[in-house]
Amino acid sequence: FLGGMAGAGIAAVTAGGTAIALLTNATQNKAHAAGTTLTIPDLLEGTTTDGTTTFTLEAKAGTSEVLSGVTSTTAGYNQSFLGPTMKWTSGDTVLLNITNSLTEDTTVHFHGAHVPPSMDGGPQNSFAAGKTWSPTFTVKDEAKTLWYHPHALGTTAEQATHGLAGMIIVEDDSDASAALPSTYGTDDIPIILQCLATDSAGDIKYNLTGYLSNGLSFPLLCNGTNVDDTTLSFTATKKRTRFRLLNASPSDIITIQRSDGATLTQIATDQGYLTEATEVASIRLVAGARAEFVMELSDAVTLEAVVTTGWVRGGSGTYEFLTVTPDTSDTPETLPTLNTITRYDTSDFTARTITLGQSGTTMTINGSAGTSMSSMAMISTTLGAEEVWTVKNSTQLEHSFHLHDVPFQLISINGEDPTGVQLGWYDTFEVVGGGSIEIAMKFTDFSDDTYMYMLHCHLLQHEDEGMMASLMVTDS
Ligand code: C2O
Ligand code: CU
Repeated sequence: FLGGMAGAGIAAVTAGGTAIALLTNATQNKAHAAGTTLTIPDLLEGTTTDGTTTFTLEAKAGTSEVLSGVTSTTAGYNQSFLGPTMKWTSGDTVLLNITNSLTEDTTVHFHGAHVPPSMDGGPQNSFAAGKTWSPTFTVKDEAKTLWYHPHALGTTAEQATHGLAGMIIVEDDSDASAALPSTYGTDDIPIILQCLATDSAGDIKYNLTGYLSNGLSFPLLCNGTNVDDTTLSFTATKKRTRFRLLNASPSDIITIQRSDGATLTQIATDQGYLTEATEVASIRLVAGARAEFVMELSDAVTLEAVVTTGWVRGGSGTYEFLTVTPDTSDTPETLPTLNTITRYDTSDFTARTITLGQSGTTMTINGSAGTSMSSMAMISTTLGAEEVWTVKNSTQLEHSFHLHDVPFQLISINGEDPTGVQLGWYDTFEVVGGGSIEIAMKFTDFSDDTYMYMLHCHLLQHEDEGMMASLMVTDS
């Protein structure tokens, strides 16, 4: 997609299944003097006519400094790496005109959004180089942090890892939204984290099998800036500042914590507000997951990202990636109750088992490799169905299970009851090697007998190697 160069030298390696054998325990510790200011991704202005807000996106190649001092070929939306943040308002109609200026097919998936399957941006929505795709829908989601990224069959890892990703903020008129900080870039701060892999020439690798001994670097990027050698700085002008975390890494698990050991006040999971602001020691995000927290700042606070391998990289590392310095003396109001989350009574829900597996070098769901629409397993359900899925990991690898369309509640995690922030709404959750989770969901609003939603591992190499199935929701 970048004129042929991105894939050079990577063609022969395919086997995600062998990756675990290559894990090492090397640890890097990164702590640095504050330097560069945190970059805030641009907010994409939409134009509103006749009740429809239109956004324009162009997927295109560019160059960027992923490894300090080295130029990498990258890709982004409207820019050379990552994309602007979109704000959608709950209840509004949006139209996106998305042009493919890459040299291969792409799609844009609205990760976590509750939209019709024909507008969801899965593999069936792929469109060719030079074409424009224009999905339109009413925003059914309440306030939450979503994101957008490519989803064409077999090329998601390549495209997303090179930088095609951006944040979506859904706003609503709830009391919680009114009480929480919401001035983008001032007291409402996007934090997009990516742990990438590059060779010394800056060539970004999206399929790491076979590469571990080849001297790759694993830079951590925050909003597109390499934080291996810098702690970014941000000056807060409001005592209470909100942070929206997105783990846009192709594979790694990232845990966010304060370097002084104090708690973070988590307010939201993938799919919106928790019942109430909840003190947590840290926030662990698998690839694809989001969370939101606030801090009440009176002294400078440094945030650390602990990157642990969910897959294959040169070891784990702790990065002091951001120092927030307060410049304010205001007194925020006490936060209200944020949300009402009624726990599903699942006694009458239909049970289903989803098995994450592998056979040789192929990754599977329910025994089928989702490398083509015709080979992947298809889950069929009907509008209004209420289901509990046992997502069983029959491999020894870590997976990040993601379901399109509807949010789910966690019923159990490796046999244990969920607690604390695990009682929130999710669309992406960790399934450890040999482990299982039970999740409950209701299929509402959208049915279609042509277009399908997807369920898959969000470790992008696993997805491309077949750990993906389709979900068809029909109306009877
Ligand atoms: Cu974020 Cu099906 O993907
Ligand atoms: Cu996986």
